[in-house]
This record gives sequence, structure tokens and C-alpha cells, in this order.
Amino acid sequence: MTGEDHQTGKQSFQETPEQSTQVKMSTSGSDQIGGPPSMATDAVLVKCTQPIPDSVPKVKGYDFNKGINYHELLKTYACSGFQASNFGLAVKEINKMIDKKMEPVPLDRQEEINLNPVGRKRSNCTIFLSYTSNLISSGVREIFKYLVQNNMVDCIVTTAGGVEEDFIKCLAPTFTGDFSLKGKELREKGINRIGNLLVPNDNYGLFEDWLMPKLDMMLKEQQEEGTLWCPSKFIARLGKEIDNPESVYYWAYKNNIPVFCPALTDGSIGDMLYFHSYRKPGLVLDIIEDIRRMNNQAVYSINTGMIILGGGLVKHHTCNANLMRNGADFSVYLNTASEFDGSDAGASPDEAVSWGKIKKDATPVKICAEATLVFPLLVAETFARREKEYKTLHESD
Ligand SMILES: NC(=O)c1ccc[n+]([C@@H]2O[C@H](COP(=O)([O-])OP(=O)(O)OC[C@H]3O[C@@H](n4cnc5c(N)ncnc54)[C@H](O)[C@@H]3O)[C@@H](O)[C@H]2O)c1
Repeated sequence: MTGEDHQTGKQSFQETPEQSTQVKMSTSGSDQIGGPPSMATDAVLVKCTQPIPDSVPKVKGYDFNKGINYHELLKTYACSGFQASNFGLAVKEINKMIDKKMEPVPLDRQEEINLNPVGRKRSNCTIFLSYTSNLISSGVREIFKYLVQNNMVDCIVTTAGGVEEDFIKCLAPTFTGDFSLKGKELREKGINRIGNLLVPNDNYGLFEDWLMPKLDMMLKEQQEEGTLWCPSKFIARLGKEIDNPESVYYWAYKNNIPVFCPALTDGSIGDMLYFHSYRKPGLVLDIIEDIRRMNNQAVYSINTGMIILGGGLVKHHTCNANLMRNGADFSVYLNTASEFDGSDAGASPDEAVSWGKIKKDATPVKICAEATLVFPLLVAETFARREKEYKTLHESD
């Protein structure tokens, strides 16, 4: 039996019991004097008892004799095999999210009150974009900025470094370096290493100078106006305060795209909050308010798509919110983690189906790869090619 596996969207070729017997019977040939043993020939030259349907794409890569055409090259990935094929499936899956988003909200849902806790305008598909901290440190930050500036995604999930490094880059640059630079020598020079990127200590000093007065201001608002801060409100306020179009979170604030970071204290921001709590105690960030805001991004959506780069907190937090609606409709994972250790980081989309975090009939994709290499190309083949459609969608906003 051949058919499409609904979980993966890939072709499956399961043998029927009769086909299985046919294969086994063909191995009982008879030996000829001087010829190779029939057991070996039968074993090696097993007849293909099951024709492969014409609809199954054949493996074929790009021909550079046709010139350098990156779009055509990336189109061939779908039929190239291995992770290139997963790239092709991911392009398809993200385009399905965008197609859904472009469809009008169904008539029977149009009258519903918009219960989105941040009041973001509803579309037919809410797209979650989640990424680990190091990706904001890398040049992928500019890809995120493009997506958020053009209002192409609806909700962001990241970790503390993924918040602060965006603001820090507005104050001073991050530099390219090398994985092999020695920690002891860097420490003596006051330079921090993130993989093969370098961040001078001074950058964090600048960040402290910028952030502390903002913390004072938020504390004052809390005490005098009764403002209840939560991490997503805090990040939106910093996005407003940075007032810099280079910043991802400046655009998130402008476009009312909520940014969730449940472990906001696990980074330089946490250090600053710690020191601030001694200097001027009292500032409160309510994570319960944020879990309501986050989960309700999924609950009150009509359809949802998840694009999750990296694993750990960002992956689980996004999937868990989608559990609240019985699973996401569309999903793309892009990470380097593997599942043999039972980690959530490495867990396959199918594991998420078992928890109800991805819908049973969805066609999720996992690309096993490093995101700085792959994500810009994914955006080139999806969002960036559909900018005009997005402009039309947002014209009525
Ligand atoms: N720049 C930084 O990385 C930085 C800065 C400050 C604080 N922190 C803190 O460190 C903690 C851990 O960071 P994290 O949760 O953001 O993720 P992480 O760096 O621990 O990564 C989690 C998993 O995601 C996958 N992954 C990471 N980078 C990837 C890539 N480039 N491509 C594909 N897959 C990738 C890996 O499987 C990894 O095990 C967080 O609390 C964060 O706030 C990080």
C-alpha cells in the first residue's frame, strides 16, 4: 500500500501481506554450476515487486549550468533529500500558514468579540515565532526585525538574552569572533563570547545605564498609578522607550505584537532587576498575568501556526500554549537537538501530537539544522515573497 502519511505529508510505502510473501518467495532460486550463489543474487537483486507511483517526486538537484538563481536552487531542495527535503517541506508548511492567514475570518466567527488579551486584530491564522537568545545575538536578529516590522507574525516567544541583546545592540555592536578564542584571555580583556560572536563587557554597562532609569519609572508607575507589570508589558514598554527602528521590540511595540519571556530574569535583565531590588525595592512582574496572555493568544485564535527556532523554553512554552486549543494547525521546528535523550528540545513534532500540542491531522515539519544557516533562506522562500499580500491584508488595519 502506498499513500500520504498525514502526520508528515510524506509518501509512505507499506507492503501488503501478499507483497511481503512475494518478496520472500523470490529468494528461493536454484544454484547454477560456475555462477554466483543464488542466495546472494536473490538477496542483492530482489525484484521491485511494488511499483513506485508516478506522483512520487524523483531525486534531482540544481544544475548550475542554468546560471545562479537562488530561488530556483532553493526550489530544488524539496527533491534533494535529507534535510534539504525537510527544508522544502518547511517552505510548504509556512506557506500554508500564510495562505490561511490571508483567508478571511469565517463568517460564523466574524461576530465574536475579540478576546485577545493584548487586543491584537484577529486574522484567520495566528503565527507564533519563537527563538532562542543566541539568535538575537546573531544576524538572524535582522530577519526577525523584518518579520515584525512588516507585521508578518503575531506572537513572539524568546528567552531573556533574546530580549536584552536586541536592546544592547541598539546601544553598541556585537562583533564576530571565533569559537576557539580562549576564555581566560577574553576574560582578561573584558570580552564575552557567544559561540563565535563577541560582546564587550562595556555593552552591559551601557545597558545598565539605559535600563535603570526605566526600572525607576516603571516602579513609580506601579506605586502611583497602580500599573501591574508583567514580562510582556515590560518588554513592550522597553520597545517603546528604545525608539529605534533597528530594534525587533521597537516594531513589536509599534505593531502590537506581544513578546513573551517567562524566564525574563535569566540574563542581564535579571542582574539589573536584582540590583534594582536593593536600590529601590518593590517592582513586581506578574508571570501569572503573562501565562493568561500567552495561552489566550492560542485559545482565542481561529487557526495557529508555530515556527520554533531552537529548543528548550521557547519551544515548550509555545507548544504548551497551543495545547490549550487542542494543538497547532501548522508547525515548523528548526533545531539541532535530537530526541534520543528524551529532551523536549529534541522532541519530534510527533511527540507533540501525543500531548495535543500539534493537531492530529497536521503536517508538521522538523528541520535538523543550525538556524543562522537556514532561517534566512526559509524567510526568503516564504514571508519575503509574500510581502505584497501582507501589505494588502494590513491596509484595512
Ligand atoms: N546570547 C545568549 O545565548 C544568552 C544571553 C543571556 C542569557 N541567556 C540565557 O541562557 C538560557 C538558555 O538559552 P536559550 O533557552 O535561549 O537556549 P539555548 O541556547 O540553551 O538553546 C536551547 C536548544 O536550542 C537549540 N539551538 C540553540 N541554538 C540553535 C541554533 N542556532 N540552531 C538550531 N538550534 C539551536 C539547541 O538544541 C539547544 O540545546 C536562557 O535562559 C537565556 O535567557 C542566553
